Amino acid sequence: MDCLCRISLRFSITEALKFLVVILGVLNLKKVECRKAKILNSFEYSAINCRAHSASIEEFGGIGDGNTLNTKAFQQAVNHLSQYASDGGAQLFVPAGKWLTGSFNLTSHFTLFLHRDAVLLASQDINTWPVVDPLPSYGHGRDAAGGRYISLIFGNNLTDVVITGNNGTIDGQGALWWQQFHRKKLKYTRPYLVEIMHSDNIQISNLTFVNSPTWNIHPVYSSNILIQGITILAPVTSPNTDGINPDSCTNTRIEDTYIVSGDDCIAVKSGWDEYGIKYGMPTKQLTIRRLTCISPYSAAIALGSEMSGGIQDVRAHEITAINTESGVRIKTGVGRGGYVKDIYVKGMNLHTMKMVFWMTGNYGSHPDNHYDPKALPEIKGINYRDVVAENVSMVARFEGISGDPFTGICISNATIGMAKKAKKYPWTCTDVQGITSAVVPPPCDLLPDQGLEKVGMCDFPSDSLAIDNIELQRCSYSMNTLM
Ligand SMILES: *[C@@H]1O[C@H](CO)[C@@H](O)[C@H](O)[C@H]1NC(C)=O
Ligand SMILES: *[C@@H]1O[C@H](CO)[C@@H](O)[C@H](O)[C@H]1NC(C)=O
Ligand SMILES: *[C@@H]1O[C@H](CO)[C@@H](O)[C@H](O)[C@H]1NC(C)=O
Ligand SMILES: *[C@@H]1O[C@H](CO)[C@@H](O)[C@H](O)[C@H]1NC(C)=O
Ligand SMILES: *[C@@H]1O[C@H](CO)[C@@H](O)[C@H](O)[C@H]1NC(C)=O
Ligand SMILES: *[C@@H]1O[C@H](CO)[C@@H](O)[C@H](O)[C@H]1NC(C)=O
Repeated sequence: MDCLCRISLRFSITEALKFLVVILGVLNLKKVECRKAKILNSFEYSAINCRAHSASIEEFGGIGDGNTLNTKAFQQAVNHLSQYASDGGAQLFVPAGKWLTGSFNLTSHFTLFLHRDAVLLASQDINTWPVVDPLPSYGHGRDAAGGRYISLIFGNNLTDVVITGNNGTIDGQGALWWQQFHRKKLKYTRPYLVEIMHSDNIQISNLTFVNSPTWNIHPVYSSNILIQGITILAPVTSPNTDGINPDSCTNTRIEDTYIVSGDDCIAVKSGWDEYGIKYGMPTKQLTIRRLTCISPYSAAIALGSEMSGGIQDVRAHEITAINTESGVRIKTGVGRGGYVKDIYVKGMNLHTMKMVFWMTGNYGSHPDNHYDPKALPEIKGINYRDVVAENVSMVARFEGISGDPFTGICISNATIGMAKKAKKYPWTCTDVQGITSAVVPPPCDLLPDQGLEKVGMCDFPSDSLAIDNIELQRCSYSMNTLM
């Protein structure tokens, strides 16, 4: 590496090609010493918007040696590139290497691109993490009453942001945080890997997230969000390592995602008890497709438990879960208020599961004692069809709320293969109303099987959401970086 000659240039393709010819010649001569030489860091990717300006984190003093703290380099890079927001936007490239960093904030019309062998390592120096206020729709932090450690990658009030890469990695180094959490030593709520607030037109794609301190990806109070081609990995015993949590968001699409985690693979949320009711911002128009989930102690998709702003129009299809506690689970309780309605699930393929269908009306877990015991959630219009499962302990555990039944439940074309050591009663149903058709084993009395001929299949919308129709552009990045 003694041939450290780094040149960054921006110019037209023709000029670039001419330059390339010269460089190739030079490199040819230096082939022996410069075996690691990269002539041109250049690649293509798909994004909601391409950018006119580019820079590499190295230009801002970033060092990817796994030891140097790069927080300032990242923040200076973003601050510098924010000047191009109204001039075609900018992309920041993170080359191969291990980039230790604390939290940094994003800007609008901006792309963060991680090379395949780039790893962002979250700083483990807990005391240096800035603390921000609890979310207004939660009133409290989730781990501790006060503030929250800001997310590793944070954005607020933004538009048109892309976080992507060629499957580069964002590593939360969560073990320390999990240990502090278990020992009840945390003063504030643990940080997420990515949180985007009050923002519009967001893409998070082609990245791997590992060992988050708690939730991985948290878009909140935002709209038009595309999350695509993400791998999320955490030990299945790690605390609260939810995969993706759309929270009070409109028009979100999550697809081609593989998640192994210690909590719900996808958890759809909208605020907590009286704070969520007051904030009143639902999650709606959410599509989840081609999800693969492994989470032995949690759900493939959870709706709640914080759902006080309401959850409506969720469409989940092609859901595969392996060794996962339950499929699509509703979690709520007295005091939550809000609603979960118009939920459509089609095509679940499930292997080894405790409960295929689970609705919990007594979830508990309140921010404080000021919740309104009269605030009852409305759970209505929950549709599941085309479900195949094997090695299942229990088909369904439906527990509505006494005096507040969950209504309009529909299950059709579900074939559930029971485990050798299955529970004696495959269905338990209380305070629920609905129908089923072509369901095996036969359902509980509250959800009578009326036969496919009579009631047909449960609903699944045939229209598309606005987020289904966005077209991605082919973008390219090319930086002449000689190392
Ligand atoms: C990032 O944003 C948060 C919240 O707006 C703020 O508290 C923090 O100071 C910002 N960080 C930097 C480096 O500007
Ligand atoms: C975000 O925008 C709102 C209104 O548009 C403004 O009140 C608030 O101060 C902004 N916050 C930040 C951190 O820029
Ligand atoms: C991305 O990396 C993860 C972790 O190494 C791997 O499991 C996954 O298959 C990769 N995805 C793609 C599309 O290469
Ligand atoms: C990103 O992932 C998608 C599949 O989700 C794939 O089609 C595309 O080629 C990937 N792009 C890059 C740059 O790896
Ligand atoms: C029932 O579900 C299975 C598995 O998803 C599917 O292959 C089949 O076509 C469905 N049957 C009907 C009548 O749609
Ligand atoms: C069935 O599930 C049990 C756990 O309930 C598990 O131990 C066993 O390995 C599974 N069998 C198969 C064939 O997957």
